[in-house]
Amino acid sequence: ATVHYHDFILKETNFTRLCSSKSMLVVNGSLPGPVIRVTKGDTVYVNVHNQGDYGVTIHWHGVHQPRNPWSDGPEYITQCPIAAGSNFTYEISFSDEEGTLWWHAHSDWTRAGVHGAIVVMPNKETGFPFPQPDGEEILVLGSWYEGDVNEEVAEDLEDGGDTPRSDCYIINGQPGDFLPCSNESTYRWQVDYGKTYLLRLVNAAMNAELYFAIAEHNLTVVGMDGSYVKPVVTSSLMITPGQTMDILVTANQSPHDRYYVGARQYDSVRPDVTDYDQTNATAILEYTGGSYDPAISPIFPTNLPSYEEYSPALNFTSRLKSLANHDHPVNVPKNITTRMYITASMNNVVFEDDGDTETALASSLNNVSWLNPSTDVLLAYYRNISGIYTTDFPNYPPDFFNFTADTAPDYTTDTVQGTKLKVLEYNEEVEIVFQGTTVYDASEDHPMHLHGYTFYVVGMGLGNFDNETGPLGYNLVDPPKMNTVSLPKKGWVAIRFKASNPGVWLWHCHLDRHLSWGMDTVLIVKNGDTPETSIREPPPYMPPCTADSSTIRL
Ligand code: C2O
Ligand code: CU
Repeated sequence: ATVHYHDFILKETNFTRLCSSKSMLVVNGSLPGPVIRVTKGDTVYVNVHNQGDYGVTIHWHGVHQPRNPWSDGPEYITQCPIAAGSNFTYEISFSDEEGTLWWHAHSDWTRAGVHGAIVVMPNKETGFPFPQPDGEEILVLGSWYEGDVNEEVAEDLEDGGDTPRSDCYIINGQPGDFLPCSNESTYRWQVDYGKTYLLRLVNAAMNAELYFAIAEHNLTVVGMDGSYVKPVVTSSLMITPGQTMDILVTANQSPHDRYYVGARQYDSVRPDVTDYDQTNATAILEYTGGSYDPAISPIFPTNLPSYEEYSPALNFTSRLKSLANHDHPVNVPKNITTRMYITASMNNVVFEDDGDTETALASSLNNVSWLNPSTDVLLAYYRNISGIYTTDFPNYPPDFFNFTADTAPDYTTDTVQGTKLKVLEYNEEVEIVFQGTTVYDASEDHPMHLHGYTFYVVGMGLGNFDNETGPLGYNLVDPPKMNTVSLPKKGWVAIRFKASNPGVWLWHCHLDRHLSWGMDTVLIVKNGDTPETSIREPPPYMPPCTADSSTIRL
């Protein structure tokens, strides 16, 4: 295994998009930021130099970081922010991940600019479980805000209202030529006729699941979230924020045409708040040496579903299965000792302000809206500091699942706020069933993400989870392994994992507006009996938790 060193310089940098300029925090001057490229089992040290104006942390999304939550990154969960003007070195240890992952800021909404791809190559001896591709392409999907997103978010949260909508989506930093002032800069992907490319796709958008397609070209999905899947051939796919996919694309169409690569928001629930349908983010795929007429516009992917279409998302997701072969075995936990039932809701939180009763928008898991403490949970746990969190995250019996009906009798739209988390024993086998609700008349998909682990998605469905029949349909043979799964709107998803990685691990919806409103909680996985099954010693330096370490407390 090799050890790599990177310097990440975080700095305000000027960008012009949609005919206007602004400065935003990015890494090493680029959007998306640098690619971290490793071979399975390597270790990477990233020294983050914060030359910006406010505190930042970085998370290595999908990297399990065995026994080393100290380098996981979420602010106030495993560390306090790296203050402006200071630096911190992360140690990122790759174990069993293979494929595409990504890194991003994990403090307020800074990840809008601070993110990039991680490529984990297989060992030379094993290689890919598919024919060696002729080339590689990385496409990072993102959100663009014309204003200063952190300022806008802070104001909106202060008012208790909705958070800002992005002004467009971007592919490798560019909106594409359907959007104003974007013609020249449209991202171009150059291919050679007859070659097969491994496309590494990352959804770094802040709040949107996205449909993705390439005109006239099939997508063969072979991996996701750093694990291999049985090849799925499709003309379009849906990818949630947080997810990454490995896709084979063969350049087998006429080299004398050009082809749009398109990403489009999928938000079946709230077309009233969806002002994006006309804003397809596009890139252009063109063939080297192809003699196309530049006056003729590229072919548009007619197979890109419209934002109102819901079923293509669910259909695609349900086709994903683990590769499950000799080199990549499946190990689904079967002796479940902890079962959790967790509802994900939109809510109000009611509070007193100067004697007035006020309400603000909130999100919750089991009707608790997470509040970040002022000292990180990991430090409090490791050093036995009391008063930072409580271990009473509620666990409801299945009959609590009366939420999805719009007329559910006993629901309340109000949540409680708190730093309530769940403690698990080392190595126990865990099943969690998530149920999407329509509380507060709201329902949409929630891309649920767990730090420190990948989990098996054993079941998924629409409507209420039924404890009698739901488990009968579980796939325990080749369920896909993910670190982020879309909880379908008004539906449920069941996941399983073995709690073999001791630490403090954040669990949250990967839509930043829901994360800001409290749709997160923490799992503490206790140590095993030996030093080798216990959390590692903290590094000699962790950023201190001080009042000026962050500008915004979400
Ligand atoms: Cu992509 Cu909590 O992270
Ligand atoms: Cu959500």
